[in-house]
Amino acid sequence: MREGSHVIVLPFPGQGHITPLSQFSKRLASKGLKPTLILVSDKPTSPYKIDNDSITVFPISNGFQEGEDPLQDLDDYMDRVETSIKKRLPELIKDMKLSGNTPKALVYDSTMPWLLDVAHDHGLRGAAFFTQPWLVSVIYYHVFKGTFSVPSTKYGHSTLASFPSFPMLNANDLPSFLCESSSYPNILRIVVDQLSNIERVDIVLCNTFDKLEEKLLKWVKSMWPVLNIGPTLPSMYLDKRLSEDKNYGFSLFTAKSTECIEWLNSKQPSSVVYVSFGSLVILNEDQMMELATGLKQSGCFFLWVVRETETDKIPKHYVEEIGEKGLIVSWSPQLEVLAHESVGSFLTHCGWNSTLEGLSLGVPMIGMPHWTDQPTNAKFVEDVWKVGFRVKAEADGFVRKEEIVRCVGEVMEGEKGKEIRKNAEKWKVLAREAVSEGGSSDKSIDEFVSMVC
Ligand code: UDX
Repeated sequence: MREGSHVIVLPFPGQGHITPLSQFSKRLASKGLKPTLILVSDKPTSPYKIDNDSITVFPISNGFQEGEDPLQDLDDYMDRVETSIKKRLPELIKDMKLSGNTPKALVYDSTMPWLLDVAHDHGLRGAAFFTQPWLVSVIYYHVFKGTFSVPSTKYGHSTLASFPSFPMLNANDLPSFLCESSSYPNILRIVVDQLSNIERVDIVLCNTFDKLEEKLLKWVKSMWPVLNIGPTLPSMYLDKRLSEDKNYGFSLFTAKSTECIEWLNSKQPSSVVYVSFGSLVILNEDQMMELATGLKQSGCFFLWVVRETETDKIPKHYVEEIGEKGLIVSWSPQLEVLAHESVGSFLTHCGWNSTLEGLSLGVPMIGMPHWTDQPTNAKFVEDVWKVGFRVKAEADGFVRKEEIVRCVGEVMEGEKGKEIRKNAEKWKVLAREAVSEGGSSDKSIDEFVSMVC
């Protein structure tokens, strides 16, 4: 029955969203479904096939003309993406039906909740896909329901939030937009809106696994039809074995795979700190300088991803000064890097994908969260799974070089580092179990397949 059943998967156009939803498409294809992955892009190409022809990729426009800068105004960007999808998606679904390839479900990114109605209007089941942990979604749900109010300034409360099996959260641990409603009002609205129609969603998917948020899961399952299907990493990486198939994501960037890996190959096991802040975080010049100095002073080898738009902030002569101690690249094949035996820790902004990747590959982490869900993810790392530290920032959020040196030293060589390594091993095994045949996430994917077929 399930053979050939067709589903549409539609991520929000950002690396942290495209990666998990495209990986999920691969899992669905491996279970016999036929996914069409719709990618919203500023330069849409013709459709093409990937993964041994099991997935059709359908690029569509983000609503911007060539020469226009989509990053000028977030509200305008969201509006144009919505308008473009609402126009193009129904046409595509119609074509699919006419060609006898009727889709059964629309798996859509939770940041675009209006896609539920598009799915229902065309007779498809709507499956919202959340790319953040449950705790974060539940906090947003409380904000949506009015049971948690966001103070207008950071100093409005000293905080207060308590959840089952989770340490008390203070203002520093909450998703950043909730500390201060005035900081990014439009993003606050978008993240909270993810939960606005969750009561009507047919299937709620989340890139996490049951054991990660066990007690909270009981509550969310009692509320909504939840299936945890993560971590969406390709299983070859969970095995710490590298395969020839490098096509594990749809990176918007070209990773210089060989440069990073060759450099790592020349280093001793667990001797390198891998440093990356994902696809969006922008550090100011002072913070970049402080981080650069901290890394240098730590005395450890480090592989540092600095996106092309940020390279101006690297101190002058820094590259010559660090010599063989460090390698700076503009993008890395992150999974390959984290799976490499030379990597001993991961200094990360704690984006949920990076956090899950570090956890699933057993790499101890140093969390340096910046905004959105990252502070809450860092809390998980330090106080719940105990697989790393969170750097202590000054009151204004600035992180001093001494603190970076301290955390790197603790994780790489300190006494507590040993404990952290043990915990990291434990979580790596649990993550692997979840996605292995018969594991909790694998069963959830089977359940999803049965529900849509
Ligand atoms: C954001 C949010 O932080 C995240 O929590 C949310 O749920 C999704 O959107 P982003 O800030 O980009 O994502 O970080 P992250 O979630 O960590 O995703 C980045 C992805 O890019 C990861 O899958 C990572 O492996 C990949 N990456 C990053 C690379 O492949 N190479 C790099 O050099 C850096």
